[in-house]
Amino acid sequence: MITLPGRRVALRPIRLDDVDAIMTWINDPEVTRNFADMSRQITREDELAFLERTLASPTDRLFAIVEPDGTYLGNAGLHKIYWPARNGRLGVVLGTPGSRGRGLGTEVVELLVHAAFVELGLHKVWMVHYASNARMAHIAKKLGFQEEGRLRDEYFHADAFHDMVRHGLLRTDAAASALLGA
Ligand SMILES: CC(C)(COP(=O)(O)OP(=O)(O)OC[C@H]1O[C@@H](n2cnc3c(N)ncnc32)[C@H](O)[C@@H]1OP(=O)(O)O)[C@@H](O)C(=O)NCCC(=O)NCCS
Repeated sequence: MITLPGRRVALRPIRLDDVDAIMTWINDPEVTRNFADMSRQITREDELAFLERTLASPTDRLFAIVEPDGTYLGNAGLHKIYWPARNGRLGVVLGTPGSRGRGLGTEVVELLVHAAFVELGLHKVWMVHYASNARMAHIAKKLGFQEEGRLRDEYFHADAFHDMVRHGLLRTDAAASALLGA
């Protein structure tokens, strides 16, 4: 897997020695409240095991989000890749303090779209986010993802049910061609 350079950040393949950088945010409620499956405390051993599984997985591609000088900011990936239909779920975490709210998320999603369609040859990428995650919803719409549905009371987290919204982008969508410059 290659490094994908962007304007302000790059994606490089995740490594086991990223574990300590990941541990700086993996239990931060400001980050984990955006994910239904991150409500329990995660240990360094848990995270290392997760990285080992993910690196060996044929259905996941996980990257570190890094600044031009190599500073680690978070993780981005394509998951649940279903090769027969060539689709996968896109995920982004700008984890380190100060990395969010600077417009980097849009660039990371653009790089993931490039990885999905150009490097992996996928036909479709999709994402699911809390309906209340205004940043992710804004990024999806801005880049031309189509809303594919609202999953009512899909997750139970922090003592409440939450709606989730799914967005998808096809390689054949005009928005995808615009993103890829083709
Ligand atoms: C979600 C995330 C990837 C967004 O990346 P980011 O760089 O922090 O995003 P920004 O703050 O630059 O906001 C992205 C866009 O949303 C807009 N936005 C921010 N808050 C908003 C709000 N409350 N309502 C509408 N739009 C909003 C911003 O103005 C920006 O749009 P612009 O580029 O057109 O100006 C990042 O915040 C993150 O990793 N959060 C924690 C984990 C997470 O939620 N991951 C996604 C789970 S699916």
